[in-house]
Amino acid sequence: MADKSVINIDFHSHILPGIDDGAKDESVSVSQLTRLRKQGVEKVFLTSHFDFRKERLSTFKARRAEAYERLMRVYDEENMPEVFLGSEIYMARGMDKCDYDGLELEKTGGIVLIEFPREQFGTWMFDILETLLFERKMKVMIAHINRVTAAFKKDICKNLFDYEDLIFQINTEAFRGVFAPDPFKGLDVSGLKFVLGTDTHDMGTRAPDYDHAVKKLESRKYEGIRQSMEYMTEKLNRRIEKNKLR
Ligand SMILES: [Fe+2]
Repeated sequence: MADKSVINIDFHSHILPGIDDGAKDESVSVSQLTRLRKQGVEKVFLTSHFDFRKERLSTFKARRAEAYERLMRVYDEENMPEVFLGSEIYMARGMDKCDYDGLELEKTGGIVLIEFPREQFGTWMFDILETLLFERKMKVMIAHINRVTAAFKKDICKNLFDYEDLIFQINTEAFRGVFAPDPFKGLDVSGLKFVLGTDTHDMGTRAPDYDHAVKKLESRKYEGIRQSMEYMTEKLNRRIEKNKLR
């Protein structure tokens, strides 16, 4: 068993059974959660995919509630991390005007997890972020930033990193060299807010690998990122614990 790390929250997962391209049924959810607990994870956000263009918010929430109920029937708090609802929201035109009620990462005080679309960069993407951040005063976490830096040009990433209020979620895959050998090469990441997530979908090629990433983060190369993750994880953990009492 590895030493306890203060990096112990999984901010991104597809564990709810039968709701998206993640766990296909409860048996997979149980395996994912049990594995995460063994890997030192104390809390995990269940961030099922949501796309404003494809589904009404109310329908999504009803489907998610149903999947959550299924999970609760097999949930074992002794051997699994604490679970919190959330969603991974696909970035699309017009989403700056949408209602996000219930999509937030539960107990975090309103943080929403948003993924960049799988298409070429367009300035409309930053327009959306600016509306959410500065007009609507929302708290935004960018999903798997390592995929963003692997896909977009350096200049675009630099501009994205200028939004100091954003929180950047790194997938554990980044520490196995998936998508890019070094996703932050040539980018100044000092002062940015980072958190970790497995983005686990199954028990196969996308099984939880949280402990591997935490171990890799011990290397000097990742010192800045590790310190930021420690700081952010502890800070958000305190916020979650406080909000649980409400
Ligand atoms: Fe995801």
